[in-house]
Amino acid sequence: MRDASRYHRLLWSATVLVALAACTAQPTPPPPAATPAQEASKASVHKEAFGSTADGAAVELYTLTNASGMEVRAMTYGGIIVSLRVPDRTGALGDVVLGYDSLDGYLKSSPYFGAIIGRYGNRIARGRFKLDGKEYKLAINNNPNALHGGRKGFDKVVWKAESFQDQRGVGVVFTYTSADGEEGYPGKLDAKVTYTLADDNSLRFEYQAVTDKPTPVNLTQHTYFNLAGDGSGDILAQELMMKASRFTPVDKTLIPTGELKSVEGTPFDFRTPTAIGARIEAKDEQITFGLGYDHNWVLDREPGGGMQLAARVHDPASGRVMEVTTTEPGLQFYSGNFLDGTLTGKGGHVYQHRAGLCLETQHYPDSPNKPDFPSTVLKPGEEYRSHTVYAFSVQKP
Ligand code: BGC
Repeated sequence: MRDASRYHRLLWSATVLVALAACTAQPTPPPPAATPAQEASKASVHKEAFGSTADGAAVELYTLTNASGMEVRAMTYGGIIVSLRVPDRTGALGDVVLGYDSLDGYLKSSPYFGAIIGRYGNRIARGRFKLDGKEYKLAINNNPNALHGGRKGFDKVVWKAESFQDQRGVGVVFTYTSADGEEGYPGKLDAKVTYTLADDNSLRFEYQAVTDKPTPVNLTQHTYFNLAGDGSGDILAQELMMKASRFTPVDKTLIPTGELKSVEGTPFDFRTPTAIGARIEAKDEQITFGLGYDHNWVLDREPGGGMQLAARVHDPASGRVMEVTTTEPGLQFYSGNFLDGTLTGKGGHVYQHRAGLCLETQHYPDSPNKPDFPSTVLKPGEEYRSHTVYAFSVQKP
């Protein structure tokens, strides 16, 4: 009897425990719900094969689309932006960058269309510089100077890539390790460039790098823009504003003289919006050296750093506007002077003189040989960081 009642008490306790456990057990949590904004967003990332390089490396193409339909296509070869479709004032999307329809065009001959530039954007005089008492010699690929990282710069290598989609938008993270001594530069450099397309029609570039030996680093992006649309003629009627009271004049090989010259009273004054063509043929030695505009402007920056407005381009015909903000001290405005009708790009468009413009955020050219310019030397233990945003909108006539 005592055993039976103990048995019943045990049975009862066990039943209560099971019941209690059932009441308190948490169901497996569902995956975190998308925010209403994310749910409504039609943003997407899509990856596809885009051919292979001469040595057989596979190249992939990422298509980033934001909620309002703006679309960027970028590939792992050179991080090249192959197309950028942006609305005009009627809402119609148009491709506003120059380039080719397929990888082949880029492999054959490209004046850095759409590419990441590194390890050093723009020129280093005679391809030489001294660092910590040692002289380094780079390839001379723009006689008599070194240009845009060398014969095989960051524009001609295949980057690793990973896409993402989160509150910031849709994007791709490109990574590349440049070996110690590559193109003559000292130190192994781990570079990372993140492209983010946000729902507000802005395209952000975040550059990061670390090194194991002191080395000059100056990363930028070499997209050729034509806000009226790729293949629509030259960019001379488009209006440019650059927030810069000074520029760095050059010698006839396009190496800065070291002077920071006032733009006042020169064809280089873009402090108020001015048509690019208005003074591009001016009788001016600097214009002659550049065959037009191919210079670095010294941005007027507020103290304290951070992202600041550098430039604004407006195409009166389409109403498209592009605003450039950056953490960099300089901006290379290149008016496509070396385009001469010998390259046939997307959709059979022949790229005539000045069919596109580049606004490359950067440190000043030849800084490794100009102790008075802001330094471009990255040391072990430091992190190189540079941010630039190209934001697109429209302006009513
Ligand atoms: C340079 C030009 C050069 C072009 C490449 C620009 O950044 O300043 O001189 O010709 O890149 O095509």
